[in-house]
Amino acid sequence: MREIPEELINRLKEAKKVAVLTGAGISAESGVPTFRGKEGLWSKFRPEELATVDAFLDNPKLVWEWYQYRRDIVDQVEPNPGHYALVEMEKYYPEFALITQNVDGLHRRAGSRNIYELHGNIMLSKCFDCGKTFDGDFDVKSGDIPHCECGGKIRPDVVWFGELLPAAVLNGAFQAAEAADLFLSIGTSALVHPAASLPFIARRNDACVVEVNLDPTPLTAEADFSLPGKAGEILPVLVEGLTG
Ligand code: OAD
Repeated sequence: MREIPEELINRLKEAKKVAVLTGAGISAESGVPTFRGKEGLWSKFRPEELATVDAFLDNPKLVWEWYQYRRDIVDQVEPNPGHYALVEMEKYYPEFALITQNVDGLHRRAGSRNIYELHGNIMLSKCFDCGKTFDGDFDVKSGDIPHCECGGKIRPDVVWFGELLPAAVLNGAFQAAEAADLFLSIGTSALVHPAASLPFIARRNDACVVEVNLDPTPLTAEADFSLPGKAGEILPVLVEGLTG
């Protein structure tokens, strides 16, 4: 079993208010490709070329095909031990906020409760013009992109680059980061703001900042503890240390 520094286990045990930020890395072990990884059919595109209003207006079919590909994956995968470890952690702390950039809904499916989904949910759609929301699936492989009764194009109901994050969700996430005495950043490249600023806000407010990531990120040098490796392997060991 992987060794976790004793001091980190003590900090985890002492903490009362915990905020966690997750990114695509926590779902990688479930089989969901990350955004900036090299695997997958769509890796030749950068997320900034597909997840924008301009990309949708220029080539809605291409954007829909990308989302359809990702929806099909999300439909078939299951939460992994990393997701479940966070469910256990939530039971331990009086205050616990799980802030995620992921749109795959896997934290909810695993059983986490106090979740802030910063970028929305990939299974939902909305009309580009009137804003009406839809939770059904559309078959974009065989034909045209879906349209609303009002004539507007239907789009995935997620937050794209250049769009505002839902205010209530964002405020909740900022408040949790400010109040936290321990902040965990897991499986995120820590490049996309405002989410990427949350661990730094926590740090400014004297939280202990812990990073779990396969690769170094802009946060690594700033974190109090940096645990290189897979979230699905490290998080269960942290929970074991916390509760064992
Ligand atoms: P990225 O793909 O940018 O980063 C995933 C991070 O997880 C990388 O640092 C990997 O090294 C790491 N990683 C991969 N597998 C891991 C594992 N098993 N355990 C731990 N870490 C692992 O994804 P995000 O940071 O989530 O936004 O990307 C942020 C946002 O940019 C996304 O929400 C999306 C994207 O474009 C929008 O679409 C607006």
